[in-house]
Parts: sequence; C-alpha cells; structure tokens
Amino acid sequence: MAVAQTWNTTELVTNDKAHHLHPVSNLRALRDDGPLVMVRGEDVFLWDSDGKRYIDAFAGLWNVNVGHGRAELAEAAADQIREVAFVPSFFGLTSPPTIELATRLAALFPDPLNHFQFTSGGAESNETALKIARYYWWLKGRSEKVTILSRKMGYHGIAMGALAATGIPTYHEGFGPMVPGFVHLTPPFHYRFGDGMSEDEFVASLVRELEETIAREGAENIAAMIGEPVQGSGGVVVPPQSYWAAIAPVLKEHDILLIFDEVICGFGRTGTMFGMEQYGVTPDIVSFAKGITSGYIPLGGVGVSDEIWDTLSTPDRMFMHGFTYSGHPVACAVAMPNIDIIERERLPENAGRAGAYLLGALHDRLDDHPHVGNVRGKGLMLFVELVVDKATKEKFDPALNTGGKMTKATRARGIIVRPVNDGIAISPPLTIQPPELDEIASAIADSIDEVIGA
Ligand SMILES: Cc1ncc(COP(=O)(O)O)c(C=O)c1O
Repeated sequence: MAVAQTWNTTELVTNDKAHHLHPVSNLRALRDDGPLVMVRGEDVFLWDSDGKRYIDAFAGLWNVNVGHGRAELAEAAADQIREVAFVPSFFGLTSPPTIELATRLAALFPDPLNHFQFTSGGAESNETALKIARYYWWLKGRSEKVTILSRKMGYHGIAMGALAATGIPTYHEGFGPMVPGFVHLTPPFHYRFGDGMSEDEFVASLVRELEETIAREGAENIAAMIGEPVQGSGGVVVPPQSYWAAIAPVLKEHDILLIFDEVICGFGRTGTMFGMEQYGVTPDIVSFAKGITSGYIPLGGVGVSDEIWDTLSTPDRMFMHGFTYSGHPVACAVAMPNIDIIERERLPENAGRAGAYLLGALHDRLDDHPHVGNVRGKGLMLFVELVVDKATKEKFDPALNTGGKMTKATRARGIIVRPVNDGIAISPPLTIQPPELDEIASAIADSIDEVIGA
C-alpha cells in the first residue's frame, strides 16, 4: 500500500505566494495570507496539508458531483491514456470515447437535443453556444440576428463573449470594452426584484419586460436568450416555478433561440439530471461542463437541436469553430463512468432529498436571525443571504469584507463554502448525507453569529 505523502505546508505556501496568480481571488490578501492547500479528498471530505479535515460543502466549484476519490474514474483516465491519449476532432478525426459520449448524451437529453460538440469548460461551452446561435441565423440569411439577451446576476464564464453575457458588474470592471450586442434583463429573483407583487404578478412583469425589450431591440436583430435554469454564481436565484414556461413561448414567437446554461445545474445538482427538467422547458441549445466529469478532468460541451444541426450541416461550408481539446478522448472516457455513477447511485434523487433537508435545517437555524434576509435553494444549490437589516434588505458595505471574514470563520469550523459579501453559497457533492448536512448548517449559523453578531 502506498504510504501517504507528508507535505511541507510552509514551503508550499511560500512558493504559492511567490509564483501563483490565482483566479477570482483577492491577490493582495493571498500574497499576505497564502492559500489553503488541499492534498487529499474522499467523498465529501478534503484534507489540507496539515492533515485537517474539511467538508467540501462547495463540491470544488459546484462540480465534484460524485464526490472525491473515485478510483474508477482514475482507472478510466489511465486506460485511455495508455490506449491513445489524444486524437483531435478537427478535419474528420475522432476516437471511440468521444463518439460514445455524444451518443450517450443524445439519449440523456430530451429530444431534439441530439448533436454535441465538446469543449474544456463552461466559458468555452457558452462561447460555442453563442457563436452557433449567430451562425445559425447567418446561414438562414438573417445575418442581422446577432443580439444576445441574458439576465443580471447571470454567470456564464469569463472569456470575452461569455463575460459579456454574464450579468455581474464586478466581473466586468477593468476588463472593458465589453463585446457589444448583449442586453441584460431583470433576473427572476422575487426577494430583491418582486417587492409588492405576487409570484404570478412578478413573472408577468418579467414577461412584459422581455416583450418590451424585443420590441425595442427588434426581433429581427436578436439571435438568442441565454440563461441558467437556476442562476448559480450570481447568488442562487431559484426562479418562480412558472417563469421558464412563460418566457420560452415569447422567444419562440419571435424566432429567438433559447440557450440553457446547464454548467452548474446539469448532471444532477438541482434534483433531476438536468435543470431544464425542473421547469418542463427544452431549449434549442444547451451548454454544460462541470458535473459531466465531476471535475476529475476538464470537459464541457454544447448540444443542439436537430433543426440547428441540419442548418449547420450545409454542404458548401466548413463549420469554423472548435478547440484543440474539443472531444478530448481522456476527458470523454472519464465522463462515461462518471455518468454511470450518477445514474447507478441515483445522485439526482439524493440531491433533491439532501437539498430539501439542508434547506430545512438552514431555515430552522436562520429564519429568525436579524442579519439573514433570505434562505433559498433548489436541490444542492443553496444560498444564505446576509443583510444589515431584514426590513430594508440593506446589503453590507463591501469595505467590511464580510465575505472574507466568513471564509475564515467557516474554514475554522471545518467547512468549505463560498462566502461573498452578500451571503454564503453552498453546493456539496451529490452524495452527501444528513450528518454532514447538519454539520454544514451548524457551522454556517455559528460563523454568522461570530462574524456579524447574533
Ligand atoms: C452557469 C455557469 N456557466 C459557465 C461557467 C463557466 O465555467 P468555466 O469556469 O468552466 O469556464 C460557470 C462557472 O462557474 C457557471 O457557473
């Protein structure tokens, strides 16, 4: 048996501080404090380089759906690397795992989503989806249909096109000019945008806003609307149940394609295999990543309808889009047993059950807290929103660094979540069970008391 490796935390931290430019982080704070170095994972647990155990209550970055340490995924990768590590999907080549995965996805997604192109992650998937939407209309002789509708608080990744669709201003600051042609709508977030309205009235107001936007921009200029079935990184916005079923027909009526960004929702997180199943709406294009390999290896992709596929397969043109690693054999070979695990262990069902349990536990502990404005979630995507005052819903001044303080407080209690200044996002592996869910709820409640008072 292999002897567990021991780590020199001081050396690791020193070298990280000197040489590693972290993504989406306060670089000054990291250069001062250094990172937390994780060295091992098993199921819902992680261990740091000092041997301390944590519950990974964020599943990596919403993506380690099957939990850590699955040997069969390691074996699938090793077997494929031994067989052939890389074959491109450009100029008429491919490999068996890529074909097998595309075929499997065609069976898994509802009709007419039957045709797949692969990428290495979520942003690339959304770049692909947006470009396909424009190209589709261009091939149809409607080259003026280029505008993309998305929502405020939406997160679609931070490559340039995906970033323009993303509706969170802090991601845009300093990186302008943004790619033109993107219009952001009001998110279906009743707590913040639906004051004084019933849920039905709120949905009606969002439909009205969509219709007015289409009238203003001109349907003849709009290619697509992109949206996460449940918005994740923007703060877990769970739409009213009737929202998507009200939005989709308006888009259809105006020849505007619907793109669902299933990068977080897909592969079980909301309680069904795909987020779209929660709302009974099938898009024209779907993008996915994260859970398709549970983060064991980078992989994403898009699925398109039969109609789009037929239009794209024009005899006189090449489809001039794709990436070196589109359809990477090793990534596709890992996706297959990962999907097997999700199905075999009925992880979407557990996500629904565990999510309801955790939501209940958080409501029990936090509903009466003076600084908790809202507790919400769908499946294992949850959010505790922090406010200065429950009645006014005033947010904390970012200068107070509530997110940074909550990060320290939750980690001290042995849980990894994603605190931001407005609250705490929670998204554990889909295997999680009540004892760890109770631990998460307690650690969050105690951390809030410590950081901002009871
Ligand atoms: C809904 C959604 N879309 C796209 C992305 C971007 O994915 P990536 O970071 O793999 O580019 C993310 C990442 O969190 C996401 O949550």
